[in-house]
Amino acid sequence: MDRIRLVGGNELRGEIPISGAKNAALPLMIASLLSAEPLVLNNVPRLADVKQLERILENHGVDIAVHGRRRGEDEGVGQRMTFHAADIVDTTAPYDLVSKMRASFWVIGPLLARCHEARVSLPGGCAIGTRPVDLFLYGLKALGAEIDIDDGYVVAKAPKGGLVGTTISFPKVSVGATHTILMAATLARGTTVLENAAQEPEITNVAECLVAMGAKISGIGTRTLTIEGVEKLHGATVDVIPDRIETGTFAMAAAMTGGDVLLKGARPEHLQSALDILAQTGVELTPEAGGLRVRRNGNGIRPVDVETEPFPGFPTDLQAQFMALMTMSNGVSQIRETIFENRYMHVAELARFGADIAVNGQVATITGKPQLRGAQVMATDLRASVSLVIAGLAARGETVVNRIYHLDRGFERLEDKLSRCGAEIERVAG
Ligand code: EPZ
Repeated sequence: MDRIRLVGGNELRGEIPISGAKNAALPLMIASLLSAEPLVLNNVPRLADVKQLERILENHGVDIAVHGRRRGEDEGVGQRMTFHAADIVDTTAPYDLVSKMRASFWVIGPLLARCHEARVSLPGGCAIGTRPVDLFLYGLKALGAEIDIDDGYVVAKAPKGGLVGTTISFPKVSVGATHTILMAATLARGTTVLENAAQEPEITNVAECLVAMGAKISGIGTRTLTIEGVEKLHGATVDVIPDRIETGTFAMAAAMTGGDVLLKGARPEHLQSALDILAQTGVELTPEAGGLRVRRNGNGIRPVDVETEPFPGFPTDLQAQFMALMTMSNGVSQIRETIFENRYMHVAELARFGADIAVNGQVATITGKPQLRGAQVMATDLRASVSLVIAGLAARGETVVNRIYHLDRGFERLEDKLSRCGAEIERVAG
């Protein structure tokens, strides 16, 4: 297995292009199942999770094409891809494909809406928590689906004539359940109202894609989405938004090492709460026409308390990275993780750098230290892995991050982007 080797201590200086958002690209790709016409997506990141979802969609009968580079385009630019689900040949999403990535469960919404049936493997648990699917099933049942659990599969059938719109009030905010029920409702008969819907920018990206495909949706970007079902959706061309988690990750990396970095293409409004917190730590953040500039010149890192929340709150996907930053603050800070019950696995690994972190239930108390020391570390999920890279960039001496396939699931050209800004970082083949 590949590893990343890095030597900490260099400031980051330069420009980092922000890639298309993984968590928008995945549901956008899934939305292609709703129409017999092609969906063209611009700025799809080159990531292992995208590849994995391609396999799943291909199994349902989707033709996928990657367009070549266009005149005047940078080589680093995201892929332009066409997803054409002219004929859905299989409405089963098998265990061996779904178990590798939870978001693949979301195909259940479009398959059920368009083909009136779906058989999708339960995704099972994962490293960051149990992550049940009750909210998905609640929403699909409300749209009239009959649901059975058979041999580890969710078997869903729409009533005769297809799904039927209704009002659904989610008892808890869920990104995946919102994506799935929103997609399903576009082809349901009548009106669906989704209350307590997730409002993440990725939901807005998908809702706007669905509108471009002919769906009728109002309330986009708010807690309540209203969908008037239509008979068919058509093809469209849609841009994947820039990745706000990648943006926040590099902002925290620059905050930790010091320096001056322009995050090209970043959309600050997609991570305002995280930027407000970063500003309180003493980082200078300046939105510019081309993106977001992050600077920290010499001053210490102030401790700030954070609680993770659904958007527009502080994202759980930046919690590990922020914890890495707080390990070098000049005081004591607390993080409360409220979204996932087991998202502190980076704590033991950060401790290898000499960090002082105590966890009590949902709350981590971090006592900052002036200097971390490089270490051999390993992580068990994507965001945790990158928090170790950030810590290594600021630590004294050499760090080796093992098991980096997690990073390849969600960060495009990570070593390349960082080394162009002066980091001493390389991938070592395993
Ligand atoms: C999405 O996961 C993201 N994944 C996650 O990013 C992100 O951490 C999460 O939203 C929260 O922002 C993608 O977009 C592909 P949820 P999702 O349903 O949709 C509970 C990353 O690193 N819940 O909003 O799976 C659940 O257990 C990943 O890129 C139920 O109880 O998250 C959790 O506690 C990791 N029942 C909370 O809701 C359900 O039926 C929020 O989960 C569904 C969820």
